[in-house]
Amino acid sequence: MLHGLRKAIEEKSAVVGVIGLGYVGLPLIKAFVSAGFRTLGFDVDRAKIEKLTAGESYIAHIPAEWIGRCIAEGSFEPTCEMERLSEADALLICVPTPLNESRDPDLTYVESTTSEIAVTLRPGQLVILESTTYPGTTRDVILPILAETGLKPGTDFFVAYSPEREDPGNPDYSASGIPKVVGGIDAESRDLAAALYGHAVVKTIPVSSCEVAEACKIVENTYRSVNIAMVNELKMLFDRLGIDIWEVVDAAKTKPFGFQAFYPGPGLGGHCIPIDPFYLSWVARKAGMPTRFIELAGEINTSMPRYVIERLTEALNDRGKPVKGSKIAVLGVAYKRDVDDPRESPSFELMELLIERGAVVSYSDPHIPRLPSMRSFDVPPMTSRSLTPEYLADQDCVLIATDHSAYDYKFVVENAPLVVDTRNATRDVTGAREKIWKA
Ligand SMILES: NC(=O)c1ccc[n+]([C@@H]2O[C@H](COP(=O)([O-])OP(=O)(O)OC[C@H]3O[C@@H](n4cnc5c(N)ncnc54)[C@H](O)[C@@H]3O)[C@@H](O)[C@H]2O)c1
Repeated sequence: MLHGLRKAIEEKSAVVGVIGLGYVGLPLIKAFVSAGFRTLGFDVDRAKIEKLTAGESYIAHIPAEWIGRCIAEGSFEPTCEMERLSEADALLICVPTPLNESRDPDLTYVESTTSEIAVTLRPGQLVILESTTYPGTTRDVILPILAETGLKPGTDFFVAYSPEREDPGNPDYSASGIPKVVGGIDAESRDLAAALYGHAVVKTIPVSSCEVAEACKIVENTYRSVNIAMVNELKMLFDRLGIDIWEVVDAAKTKPFGFQAFYPGPGLGGHCIPIDPFYLSWVARKAGMPTRFIELAGEINTSMPRYVIERLTEALNDRGKPVKGSKIAVLGVAYKRDVDDPRESPSFELMELLIERGAVVSYSDPHIPRLPSMRSFDVPPMTSRSLTPEYLADQDCVLIATDHSAYDYKFVVENAPLVVDTRNATRDVTGAREKIWKA
């Protein structure tokens, strides 16, 4: 089995199946098609499969034209039919790993996908988990489900973990341009996975086990969460001292070694940074050790939207206005600059807090024309407003929550009566600075 699979990978005749065609899975398909592999894409979301089959895209940086071409030439076949999982030589699992209601890891998507794979598992298949998770998932959750088939891991089938690294909205990095860490349940699995990715990405970094690869991903994201929490706390302190945190960080980053710049914001957003550290703290609790750093970072970061509302209330108060009845336009509901992804965006909490206080809230975001409904936030349906001089002038306050590059910040400051800026987006605006409050 090993030789046949190794040869198929070497010769690029191996069929690559990707399960979960979201922000991670679809770019991965692109990387493998570009490397010359035939790919199968699996998703339970019928609407996504129909769109892809019709040559349409639902992810801004994956062009519809490219999808249409791959489907026409047969290098990419999207499907909902899970019985076709046996057609792929390598199966890459890219399904969601959210938190449940008590903020513990929710592995139901990973488990159900693995059970689907087990139904048709055949000798010579390589299964790789890409979803972010806690160390131990590949060996303790995936492997037992596959081993129940009676096939032998390490000889009949192979299992590895390779975390996805993405920087959504950054045009300098696509999936194929980012080095990939690879760990296996054994050396054969690791080497097969590394050989496969070696065709599709710029560099592979084999590590000694799947646990190391899992821990590596979660450390990368926890590192960001902890450092963002530190600058968020310093933002609140420096504000009291009359010092601008953004100017401080920009000055500190001129140190050529030993400092990496992180910037404060209105709270964490996206599918990774607000969620992944809790996977680590959960496994730590199981191991009988509290992770105070991670918990503290989570506490500070989740308190940020309330701090922003406090600053906005002060800014309105300074103009003799209460929040209640004030018109407030939120600029940006995507969780970060220049992306169309609203998942976990702090803008929803900001809007909810403002509405609770009686403000009249609207929003503008060129990437999100219609506000999606969010399970955890109570914000009514709205559509994005155009940033006309009349709209801006009609507001009591404009709250910059996401610093999209499409906004003309000089124009915003010129036309709005008051601007609360959580991203230092107005740094280059020289006129009417008395209207700007940083938060
Ligand atoms: N988005 C990022 O920037 C990013 C970066 C690194 C890692 N990750 C991790 O990658 C994983 C996937 O994230 P994403 O952002 O691509 O999520 P996503 O929600 O965009 O995509 C997941 C897809 O999986 C599909 N799916 C769910 N259950 C399925 C099943 N049983 N079978 C087949 N398909 C199924 C969903 O319909 C969806 O299309 C998560 O673990 C996430 O933490 C995400």
